[in-house]
Amino acid sequence: MQTVSEARLVTLEEYIIQSQNRFPGATGELSQLLRDIGLAAKIISREVNKAGITNILGVDGSKNVHGEEVKKLDVFSDHQLISALERSQITCMVISEENDGIVRLSSKGGKYIVYLDPLDGSSNIDVNVSVGSIFSIYMREARFDPTVKESDALQPGIRQVAAGYVLYGSSTTLAYTTGLGVSLFTLDPSIGEFILCNRNIKIPQKGTIYSINEGSYNSWDLGLKKYIKYCQETDPETGRPYSARYIGSMVADVHRTLIKGGIFIYPHSNRYPEGKLRLMYECNPLSMIIEQAGGMASNGERRIMEIEPVAIHQRTPIYMGSPINVRKVLDFLVEYAEEKTLA
Ligand code: AHG
Ligand code: MN
Ligand code: MN
Repeated sequence: MQTVSEARLVTLEEYIIQSQNRFPGATGELSQLLRDIGLAAKIISREVNKAGITNILGVDGSKNVHGEEVKKLDVFSDHQLISALERSQITCMVISEENDGIVRLSSKGGKYIVYLDPLDGSSNIDVNVSVGSIFSIYMREARFDPTVKESDALQPGIRQVAAGYVLYGSSTTLAYTTGLGVSLFTLDPSIGEFILCNRNIKIPQKGTIYSINEGSYNSWDLGLKKYIKYCQETDPETGRPYSARYIGSMVADVHRTLIKGGIFIYPHSNRYPEGKLRLMYECNPLSMIIEQAGGMASNGERRIMEIEPVAIHQRTPIYMGSPINVRKVLDFLVEYAEEKTLA
């Protein structure tokens, strides 16, 4: 006997079908792709939540394309997501942080290209801090060319047909958008279903949380230093300074920013002259989510999603979050730009 509350439960699968039915011409392929990702996410969530027991913690000895130590869950997540996409035969290629080049799937005619950060925040795995998966979906333009090429995947973020993330935290949350707002789901492990919890989430117009790794303060542009000092002054609206929150998993920091408002920043620095975060499978998908929720995402000079990519693993600085907060930091960067060159 269903309780009343259970009767109102909408699963991810039902929601995807409901959304698809709003488009009579829809083929159902994007719906299938999103369901594939949802399935892989449930499997990854199970492994993340028992990592300590099954000895899946720690490194597997290899390094990814960025020379970063690959932890076993990165590899496991990569395999789960790619094999889920392989099964449905509608994706022609995957680009993932864990693979140097493009991964051609068996379906040469597949209309979609999927970028993946299979496990984001992997340095946090061993200390039981939230990690996530990020996905970004494009349509392949040269659909009838049998040879799938890397250049097919070099499209600006504004051409994403869908994007989203899974956050493996105290609960497992999935957020995605197809360009019609952001929907949020929470995994109910007792029934193995993602349950709809917000159909169209909106970011607060302004927040009082700033999120940045202050360890690289000395190499920041003067405008950014001045902005962070501004955040540490008393905010006239609240009568107190901002709070600083930095988890070190982009998905977790951006999810908190989406829910509570504020700003997340990963600037360029001496160590990362182009910024650390990757444009195609971290910044573009999370920027689409934040923009669809009413926020902003910039590289300090222009909208992240308008950057024309030249390489699948390229990096970018990023300033993203509530529009009032992002506009403020951009004003500081402009105001002190000249002094940057003098400093
Ligand atoms: P990944 O684990 O996929 O390599 O991503 C890690 C990223 C991102 O999740 C986070 O915002 C950033 O690295 C943290 O970098 P710092 O440790 O330099 O602050
Ligand atoms: Mn990442
Ligand atoms: Mn990663």
